[in-house]
Amino acid sequence: MEEIKITNTKEAEEFIKVKLLEIETAAKDCTGIVYLSGGVDSAVVAVLGYRALGENLKVIFIDTGLMREAEAQWVRKTFERQGLTVSIVDASDRFFRALLGKIDPFNKRVAIRDTFYNKVLPYASQLYHAEFLLQGTNLTDIEATAENSVAPQHNILEQIGKKISLPLIEPLVQLRKPSIRQIAKTLGLPEEVWNRMPFPGPGLAARIDGEVNRENVTVIRKVTKIVETRLKDISAFQYFAILLSDHVPNYDRTKIGYAVAISCIDSKDATTAQPSEFDLNFIFNLRDRIYLEVPEVFRVCWDISTKPPGSVEWQ
Ligand code: XMP
Repeated sequence: MEEIKITNTKEAEEFIKVKLLEIETAAKDCTGIVYLSGGVDSAVVAVLGYRALGENLKVIFIDTGLMREAEAQWVRKTFERQGLTVSIVDASDRFFRALLGKIDPFNKRVAIRDTFYNKVLPYASQLYHAEFLLQGTNLTDIEATAENSVAPQHNILEQIGKKISLPLIEPLVQLRKPSIRQIAKTLGLPEEVWNRMPFPGPGLAARIDGEVNRENVTVIRKVTKIVETRLKDISAFQYFAILLSDHVPNYDRTKIGYAVAISCIDSKDATTAQPSEFDLNFIFNLRDRIYLEVPEVFRVCWDISTKPPGSVEWQ
């Protein structure tokens, strides 16, 4: 697949014009669905799709139970301002059931992907009488999956030879993130969307070592919120919390609690990454905030890993 680079408003306007026409032609009087997660890729396809097809496109937010705090409400409010009506489908039970007993990172990713495509997609397509699926797959997703099948991206399916029952429309397959951000900007999306920090398709499950359940997702969600709030003004590429263990003892060994790690990286495009530099006092303050607001956390670690040899996400 050849890359298209979009570096300015003029190129973005041209790309948008071409894609609107392509979507209109491909979807011709059909009803379709797009899953809007709130990330820049799905935001761009949802807005392009809506501008090309109007109400023939149903915009759906899947609540996997693995999203950050108040994500569904944020998505609904943000995209309503763009004229989109976002329907929220609560599929969290299905995802937690699929994750039950899974500890291997690969198996967890596969469980999430299969739940999405084998359970949620057929349900939503039937519910909305969908005749096609519009999806924001980008070039990096395809390459990452092709190169390394043990880290499958959540949205790659046809590329690894799995068939879904709906025709796919993927207008962004020739673009990488910087080009997609330029398009989002040109479409008039707010900075909180076009400049949004990457968040993995498997959600908080990618940030939990071992089995994922409602209880430990609640803990890592709270810590994630603190980390995102405290670090939001720094210029790092990505920062997040990881749940390392749910069975560490407290100081007098009378209780069992959680150990978390914080990762904050500098990177250009996530293919390589280095830990961002911090004043130690900033880290101590962050730790104290976590102790105060999430008292079941007993240990806080700082991730100083690089990619390679590690990956950005823990799982
Ligand atoms: P890794 O962990 O592969 O992450 O070094 C590289 C970048 O990709 C993001 N990431 C994902 N994004 N679906 C996505 O859309 C996924 O399954 C996924 N896994 C990782 C990660 O946050 C980082 O920015």
